[in-house]
Amino acid sequence: MIVDYAVKNVESVPGIYKPVEFWQLEDQNPPAKKCHESSVFTLKEMEEATNSFSDENFIGKGGFGKVYKGTLRSGEVVAIKKMELPPVKEAEGEREFRVEVDILSRLDHPNLVSLIGYCADGKHRFLVYEYMQNGNLQDHLNRIGEYKMDWPKRLKVALGAARGLAYLHSSSAVGIPIVHRDLKSTNILLSTNFDAKISDFGLAKLMPEGQEIYATAMVLGTFGYFDPEYTSTGRLTLQSDVYAFGVVLLELLTGRRAVDLNQGPTDQNLVLQVRSTLNDRKKLRKVIDPELPRNSYTMESITMFANLASRCVRIDSSERPTMSECAKELQLIFHTNTKGLGMALHTLRMI
Ligand SMILES: Nc1ncnc2c1ncn2[C@@H]1O[C@H](COP(=O)(O)OP(=O)(O)OP(=O)(O)O)[C@@H](O)[C@H]1O
Ligand SMILES: [Mg+2]
Repeated sequence: MIVDYAVKNVESVPGIYKPVEFWQLEDQNPPAKKCHESSVFTLKEMEEATNSFSDENFIGKGGFGKVYKGTLRSGEVVAIKKMELPPVKEAEGEREFRVEVDILSRLDHPNLVSLIGYCADGKHRFLVYEYMQNGNLQDHLNRIGEYKMDWPKRLKVALGAARGLAYLHSSSAVGIPIVHRDLKSTNILLSTNFDAKISDFGLAKLMPEGQEIYATAMVLGTFGYFDPEYTSTGRLTLQSDVYAFGVVLLELLTGRRAVDLNQGPTDQNLVLQVRSTLNDRKKLRKVIDPELPRNSYTMESITMFANLASRCVRIDSSERPTMSECAKELQLIFHTNTKGLGMALHTLRMI
């Protein structure tokens, strides 16, 4: 669920909030080097694909609408996000829609969910994504009674997400770094092979070149993942995503939710719950997900992972690692775990 603390009409304050059109990407950057052009669909095609948005096709609901499984005329299975907005939120949703289409259509990376196309038919707005068979990461960590992901799978997910974010943060995506702004475990989707792909760039902001920090009067994102520096100063940085990524690492380690409203007021926030345990081997054992198969991890890899997570969620954003550093470290952690367990070399080729 997206929370929006609009402090004032930021679009009227020069130099603060810059909508995506401001960057005039068409003029400044060559067209995307994506192999497939985004398709444009009609409302009728969306209805046909989803059996008129039937309950059987319904997958889930987020802050901006419902998501349905669909089959296009071509036979391709897709996820269709139907933007359903209350009138007061319509402007925001419309903006999110345009931003998402604009950005996603330029991006091409194995760890980002591909946008296949969109529909803007009358008042109706849909985004059509590649379908991710294994749904979102949070469900896999929290669903009761389900087989829980082992440690190598969790490391693979962390590494995939890190690579996707590192790509967004590098200038190679659209010529300037992109901040995701709503990274969380429901926005990390999983393929049949548990390859992780990041979704939902609706809140992304394109950062001006050479200026990796700028002020914004809007705080957008999801409770539990907010960078404390961003919420207190409104200064948006690439490192805000690193903080949210650190929270996801903690979810993978502990199997707990980023925010658990069933806990007492001081224990609701996962970072606050576990921060003091992360660099203390003895305490650390107590927070490891009890459902993590014991024969799938080494304490050495857990210790390295917890240490990385603790640096990602540092209060001072300048002390956090970059996403490409996270990716490198996670690769090392994966290899350390594999080596420690004496696994066959072919498992290493998984990544
Ligand atoms: N491409 C996809 N393939 C398969 N399932 C998807 C896809 N996109 C979204 N979903 C599922 O649909 C559900 C709703 O997603 P949605 O993005 O609308 O909500 P959210 O991620 O919980 O919140 P937010 O609106 O803040 O992103 C999620 O449970 C997700 O697993
Ligand atoms: Mg989402």
